[in-house]
This record gives sequence, structure tokens and C-alpha cells, in this order.
Amino acid sequence: MEIKQLNLIQFRNYKRLEIKFSKTMNILIGENGVGKTNILEAIEVLSLTKSHRGNDNNLIQYNEDTMKVKGTISVEQIIRKLEVEYSEKCKKTKINGTTIPRIGDYIASLNTIVFSPDDIEIIKGSPNIRRSLLNMELSQISKAYLIHTNQYNKLLKTRNEYLKILYTNHLGDKSYFDILTEKLIDKAILIYQMRHNYILKINEIIESVFKDIHSHLSLQIKYEPNVEFSSFEEEKMRETLRKVYQKNYQKERNYGMTLFGPHRDDFTFLLDGKDIKLVGSEGQKKAAILAYKLSCIPIFEEQTGTKPVLLLDDIFSEIDEKRQNKILKYIGKDIQSIITTTDVKRIRKSLLKDATIFKVISGTVERMI
Ligand SMILES: Nc1ncnc2c1ncn2[C@@H]1O[C@H](COP(=O)(O)OP(=O)(O)OP(=O)(O)O)[C@@H](O)[C@H]1O
Ligand SMILES: [Mg+2]
Repeated sequence: MEIKQLNLIQFRNYKRLEIKFSKTMNILIGENGVGKTNILEAIEVLSLTKSHRGNDNNLIQYNEDTMKVKGTISVEQIIRKLEVEYSEKCKKTKINGTTIPRIGDYIASLNTIVFSPDDIEIIKGSPNIRRSLLNMELSQISKAYLIHTNQYNKLLKTRNEYLKILYTNHLGDKSYFDILTEKLIDKAILIYQMRHNYILKINEIIESVFKDIHSHLSLQIKYEPNVEFSSFEEEKMRETLRKVYQKNYQKERNYGMTLFGPHRDDFTFLLDGKDIKLVGSEGQKKAAILAYKLSCIPIFEEQTGTKPVLLLDDIFSEIDEKRQNKILKYIGKDIQSIITTTDVKRIRKSLLKDATIFKVISGTVERMI
């Protein structure tokens, strides 16, 4: 998959912008604050219809009331035109000029893997951030996952409301509640299994990626549901979940919320078997997250038949020169990448041979080579 052209209208600090990317490595160079991240963010919006930086209204240029991001995408010779438009009240997505009302029908038109400085929160931040990451990745490669999580979230909301009813009214209909719990278990199993399989696949790859870009220490991801499963086999999981919900019925009713399930999942990074949050250096943490993101590439390709576009924001800070070069060598030219940095002086010329370099100067972008 490749993004051939990007057009921005009133997006952040760009009044109007058109960029044509190369199908391999693209490097955006520019000083702090000129709008490098904004370009990657625009591609993220085109891919997911929203930005990880949150608050969508900030995407519209100051003093304007609409913005548009347009992109020409090529997948196996097929060209598709995507468009995301925001106004203060609504958001519109189009494929080849036709409005797509349901987000589920739009997502996966452009698959991206984004690495940004904020990603350090994947290690340092709350479990919620790690769950959002899994949701975002799995939704891009599996429409079924998106559907199951939406249904799970609806059931969870209803079950929580019902727990509150049962707390205040002891005569509430417990049999209806039990049906809700069974339905929730059905969806929970599917989500657990998909996340478990995804992390298994990442673990098959991540160690060798980490070796290539950083060091010989071992790196693994440990999936940590808040329910202890002896196996991820459907019937065993069903049995375990039924027991957990039965045992904790009073507790959940007192809290008025569902305390167990994939909405409470977490995972950790283990560096040589130890939690990287507690033992890792800043550079190691950054490299671990980058290794995680790079490990997603073959999984995306296996599931969707095409490689995603790699968006790497400010990857070189806190990474030494030797490792910067290792990263670029690893990324190579078999995938389209768009990379931002404040300078490329320390990068080996041979690695830049096939790269297209753009200079970003406040609100404009110029192709250098
Ligand atoms: N809604 C907006 N309208 C106009 N300009 C905006 C808007 N939101 C952000 N900006 C401007 O965008 C600029 C920041 O852009 P960006 O974050 O892309 O910089 P950068 O090149 O990535 O910098 P750094 O190297 O520090 O990461 C700031 O000058 C900011 O004022
Ligand atoms: Mg930036």
C-alpha cells in the first residue's frame, strides 16, 4: 500500500499543501514547530479519521471552520481517492467521491503504522493507552474485531446500567441480567482470543526486530488479562468467565460496574524477562516500542495482503547514531515510510541513497532530491 499524493486544505498550519511521496523512504526535515508532525497527523486522519493527539477541532486551521485532507492511495495498482472533511459540527469521509456514512466501511482503506514521541506512554502510561493501541491495530486488520468490540462495548454499558438497577432494586430481573452476562461472555471470548493471537504473533517477530535495530537483549510482550485463563480455548474460557462473574456478582453490584473482562486488559514489555517500565533506559524503551510497531508490519501484510504505510515521527531523538543507521537499514525500501527529523547529518549517505528528502519550512514543503 502506498500514499502517492496528499492534499491539505486549512489543516493545522497548512492553508493549502500538495505533496507527492515516493513509494519507498520519504524524509521530512525541518526545524522545531514548522509542521512536520502535522503532515504525519494528516495521514493518520486520512487513515483512521482521527488523530492520536486528540481533540479533533484543533485540526482545523485557526480562524477557519472547515478542513480537508485528501489522499491518493495505491494498492496493488488500484488507485483510490480518500477524503476526510471536518467542520465544527460534522465529519465526512469519502472514497472516490462517494460519502461513506459508516466508519467501519471506511477504515482499512489506508492502513498505517504510526510511531510518535507520545508513544512512550505505551510503556509509561495507563492500561487504557495499551488497550487503545490494540484496538486501533486490530480494527485495521480485522473488520470482525471492530464489530465484536462495538457489540461488547454496548453490552458492557447495558450490563453496567443493569448492575446499578439491581443494586437499588433487589427485585430487579436477575434472569435478564444473566442473559446479558452470557452475551457479554460470548463477545469477551472472541476479543480475548484475537488479542492473544495477535500478541503471540508479535512475540514470534519482535525479538529479532529488536536485535536488528537495537541490541541482543531479549524483548517479549506479556498479555495480562485481569481474568486468569488456563487456556485460550473457547469452552475453558467460558467456564472460567462464568465462575468469575458468579463469584463476583455481589462485588460488581456494589460497584455498579463490570470489573472483569477485556475492557480491563493490559500488556507489558519484558526486557530480559523484566518489566521494561522498571528497568529500561529511555533509549531502550523507545527502541522497544519501535520494535513493537515494526513487528506489526508482517502481521498487517499477512492479514490484509498489503504492507501498511509506516509513519515515523521524530524517531531519532534519544537514539544514538549507530542505532539510527540500524533503524533506517531495517526499514529499507520494501515498504513506504514517511519519516520526520530535524536533521540528517549523522545518517550514512548510502542509507539515504534511495530516500526522497523534503524540506519543511513553516507551512510549505519543498522536495530536495
Ligand atoms: N489549528 C492550527 N492552526 C494553525 N496552526 C496550528 C494549528 N495547530 C497547530 N498549529 C501550528 O503547528 C505548528 C506545530 O507543528 P508540528 O507539531 O507539526 O511541528 P514539528 O515540525 O513537528 O515540530 P517539532 O520538530 O518540534 O516536533 C505550531 O507552529 C503550531 O502553532
Ligand atoms: Mg513534531
